Amino acid sequence: MATCKCIGILTSGGDAPGMNAAIRAVTRSAIFHGYRVKGIMRGYKGLVTNEIVDFDSHSVSNIIQLGGTILKTARCKEFTTPEGRKLAYENMRAAGIDALVVIGGDGTLTGAKIFAEEYDVPIIGLPGTIDRDLGGTDHTIGYDTALNTILDAIDKLRDTASSHERLFFVEVMGHTAGYLALYSALASGSEAAIIPEMETEVDQLGELINHGFRKSKNSAIVIVAENPETGGATALAERVKKEFPEYDARVTILGHIQRGGSPTARDRILASRMGNAAIEAIMEGQRNVMIGVLNGQITYVPISKALQHRKQIDRDHLELVKILSI
Ligand code: F6P
Repeated sequence: MATCKCIGILTSGGDAPGMNAAIRAVTRSAIFHGYRVKGIMRGYKGLVTNEIVDFDSHSVSNIIQLGGTILKTARCKEFTTPEGRKLAYENMRAAGIDALVVIGGDGTLTGAKIFAEEYDVPIIGLPGTIDRDLGGTDHTIGYDTALNTILDAIDKLRDTASSHERLFFVEVMGHTAGYLALYSALASGSEAAIIPEMETEVDQLGELINHGFRKSKNSAIVIVAENPETGGATALAERVKKEFPEYDARVTILGHIQRGGSPTARDRILASRMGNAAIEAIMEGQRNVMIGVLNGQITYVPISKALQHRKQIDRDHLELVKILSI
């Protein structure tokens, strides 16, 4: 965009490993192409409260390996109101920012979409979420690291599950998506994944028991996607205790440990490519798109399309978990 001179960057919503690598890539690519860069603290909150700082290439030194986000993050209530967004726009313009790069998940992109509809602000989104629940991209920044963190935990749980001959329900994050649950189950050799995408179709626990899991094994690990509506792993374990008292069931909820840690090489590379692509998109005059990666290639996904994420999982992969756990 010919008129854009200064780019503001923020991270919002749940943090994800690799956000720092993305901040670094956006900042350095922008400076390389002659833009000024401003860091906006605490996501949209920093726009509303005017916490905006000048960035240079040293501002992002030695952060590629760090989890979390040096810009901090928040879920901002004020930005959901027209008054809050007006203030945000005024602060942004007063700071001389002409375009925004926002890094986060569906809440962040929803905020971006509304802001761009109300004000004439070019916004480029980067998918930064461990949930991988955005459309138009094969990967999101942070997903791979979270998956590996989960694997590390499951491998450890397997030792004790096996020693005590127990059934473990391990609850993982994912918001309303089952990717972390499904693929951590596949990669860890767990006996099953219970995911929200299948919830209305089958009684997943009943099926599991009927298939006679643990018949020939002395322990079992079932990965359960978090689900506030059904009660997740805790509710399943309660049900097992009542209906199948012969099983010695335990629950482990992995929680926020899944959001921390040094990003994997895969997440660092993804974040670096996407951060650079955000600046290229701005240079091409793109606006209100999310950077995606499909079949290894960078794509521009209209933010509205990225948000229309359909709950699609590869059923063959779910089946594979079963096949490989006989
Ligand atoms: O979107 C990332 C995520 O970690 C989800 O997997 C989870 O449901 C949610 O954020 C937890 O949010 P909070 O940190 O606000 O409790």
